[in-house]
Amino acid sequence: MSTIKDRFNLDGKVAIITGSSKGIGKATAKAFAECGATVVISSRKQDACEEVVAEFKALGLKAIAISCHVGDENSRKELAEKTIAQCGGIDILVNNAATNPVYGPIEDAPLDAFDKIMNINVKAPWDLANKCLDSIKSRGGGSIINISSIEGEIPGYGLGLYSTSKAAVSMLTKNQAKEWGRHNIRVNAICPGLIQTKFSAALWTDDKVMGHINKKLPLSRMGQSEEIASVALLLASDAGSYITGSLQVADGGYLISG
Ligand SMILES: NC(=O)c1ccc[n+]([C@@H]2O[C@H](COP(=O)([O-])OP(=O)(O)OC[C@H]3O[C@@H](n4cnc5c(N)ncnc54)[C@H](OP(=O)(O)O)[C@@H]3O)[C@@H](O)[C@H]2O)c1
Repeated sequence: MSTIKDRFNLDGKVAIITGSSKGIGKATAKAFAECGATVVISSRKQDACEEVVAEFKALGLKAIAISCHVGDENSRKELAEKTIAQCGGIDILVNNAATNPVYGPIEDAPLDAFDKIMNINVKAPWDLANKCLDSIKSRGGGSIINISSIEGEIPGYGLGLYSTSKAAVSMLTKNQAKEWGRHNIRVNAICPGLIQTKFSAALWTDDKVMGHINKKLPLSRMGQSEEIASVALLLASDAGSYITGSLQVADGGYLISG
């Protein structure tokens, strides 16, 4: 049996992480690269991706930049095809990019906001995984990680459509895991609580929200991107070889805080 360190090793693996120019995606890409993977840094902006690649390469890590707007089908197709052309195949996919363009009562959200949220948060991870599937299969299997949210498990206030989209991501994960286990492809979701990134800045700059977090959460603080990246590493590597169809909650105890 290999050592536990070997089981976290990603040498020779190729990982696509969408939305990896900052936040949780970037921290996840760095963790994978530090464990030996070649990582594909991807976001809507090629420049931002190339900056991350330069930063990683200066640390001796293996990374390439391929921009992709996950809401655009052609862009998703190119991300998969260019990765295969430049890296020889795909072993790991992290569907991390997401959007939340509206905040407020669920009945006030415009119809086009619904379409945008579902397109980027649900349709994109489903379709990108489909586009990577043949390559992952041809490598004897792999790991797909969908970044969901605790908002998909319990409704918050003002995030109704986002919350609904994340519940769909969690169920998508279970269906993919059920259908693709026979190809040795594991599919899991991570449900982060409040993590300090640009995406969530409206929450962690709000004294009322932070007062609630500090008082009610068992761990009395918000999380950092690296604390999600380490969960992703478990799921991506052989260390998580018997985990599939799961939702991994990393929320400082939010869901049990009542
Ligand atoms: N932060 C939290 O508290 C929290 C909690 C639960 C779940 N999550 C989930 O965690 C994931 C990452 O969020 P984050 O907090 O790390 O966000 P972030 O720091 O704002 O980073 C988002 C990343 O996604 C990219 N991106 C945005 N829209 C994109 C699109 N349409 N196509 C491709 N890339 C896109 C951004 O780059 P460009 O702008 O250059 O495209 C950036 O690299 C999301 O799925 C979010 O729902 C976050």
